[in-house]
Amino acid sequence: MISAPLSKSAIVTAPEIMLTDRRMVRVLLVDDEEAIRLSLGTFLTRSGYEVETASSALQALEMLDSGRFSLMLSDIRMPGMTGVELVPKALASNPDLAIVMLTAVNDAPTATEALSRGAMGYLTKPVELPDLHESILKALHRREMLLQQREIDHVIREEVTMRTAELEREKSALRDLTIQVAESLVIAMEAKNPYMRGRSIRIGEMAAAIADEMALDVDTVEAVRLAARLMDVGKIGIREEILNKPGSLTPEEFAHVKLHVEMGINILAPMKHLGSVLDYVRDHHEHFDGTGYPRQLGDNQISIGGRILAATDAYDALTSGRSYQEPLTPHSTLEYLSERVGSLIDPEVYKALSIVVRRRRSLTFITAIPN
Ligand SMILES: [Fe+2]
Repeated sequence: MISAPLSKSAIVTAPEIMLTDRRMVRVLLVDDEEAIRLSLGTFLTRSGYEVETASSALQALEMLDSGRFSLMLSDIRMPGMTGVELVPKALASNPDLAIVMLTAVNDAPTATEALSRGAMGYLTKPVELPDLHESILKALHRREMLLQQREIDHVIREEVTMRTAELEREKSALRDLTIQVAESLVIAMEAKNPYMRGRSIRIGEMAAAIADEMALDVDTVEAVRLAARLMDVGKIGIREEILNKPGSLTPEEFAHVKLHVEMGINILAPMKHLGSVLDYVRDHHEHFDGTGYPRQLGDNQISIGGRILAATDAYDALTSGRSYQEPLTPHSTLEYLSERVGSLIDPEVYKALSIVVRRRRSLTFITAIPN
C-alpha cells in the first residue's frame, strides 16, 4: 500500500540522478500488486527515471538477464520467490545493481536479512514519496561509489601486476647477467690453456645429456648443465703454474688445487637463486666410495648433480688429453671408467654415460656417411 497520492507537490524531479555518463537511470520495479506498480511507476517516470515493471521475482530475473538496470525496487512479500530470495539471484545476474526493498511496517527483521544479502536500503510501506526519492538517490550514489572503487581496485591490481612482472623481468635479467659473468670467468680461464678451451660448454652438454638419460626432470637437467659449466670457476684462484703443470702434482700442489671447490662456492654463493646448482658444484669432486673431496661423502649422500659431474669430468679429462697425455678414444675411456664404477663413479650414472657416448658415436658415424 502507498499512502501518498501522486499529487503535483509529491512528484519531485530528479535531474541529479542521471549517471555520470548521462545515460538515463533504468529502474526495475518489482511488486505483485498492480496498483503499486502503477502508482510508483508513474511517480518514478515523472521523476526522470526509465522504469520497467515486473509482477514477480521470476519475471524480474528474466528482465535482469535481458537488459541492464541501475536499480531494482522490490517488494519483499510476493507469491513464489520472495524479495529476500530475489536479492542474491539478482546480484548474481547483475552485480552492479543497486537494490532497495519495500517492506511492511512490522517486518524489519526480514528487511535486515535482505540488507545482509546485498540490498542497499529498504522503505517501509506505506511509502512516502520524498522518502522513496531519497532512498533511490542514496542507493544510486552508493552504487556509483562502489563502481568507482571497483574501477580503482582494478587499476591498482593491473598496476601491481604490471610492476610485479617488470620486477620479475629485471630480477631474471640480473640473474642471467650474474651467471654470464661467472661463465665469462670460466671461459677466460680456459682460454689460457689449449687443452681446456671450450671445456665447460662441452661438459655442460654431456652432463645434461646424462641427466636427461637418467630421466631427471627438466629443471634438474638444466641445473646440472649450469653446474657443469660453473663447477671449476674456483680455479681462477689457483696458481697458474700448478693449474697448467704437465705431469703429476706434488701433495702440496694437489692440496692447493683442491681448494678450487671452496673458492668456487665462495664466488657463486651470493647468487642465491642458483639453488641446487651450488650443491652440485660443491660435490663435483666427491667419489662414490667416499674418498673424494671436500667432504668425503659417499653413495647417495652426494647430490645427483655431483655424481653426474664427477663422471663427466673424468670422461672429458680422458678424452681431451693433456700436453703430457694423448687423448683416449670414447671406447677406451668407457672401458677405463668401467673399472672405477662403485669407487669413483655411481653405477647408474655410468650406465647413462655409456648410453650417451654410444649414441653420440652412432650419430657421428651417420653424419660421416657421404650423401
Ligand atoms: Fe673441479
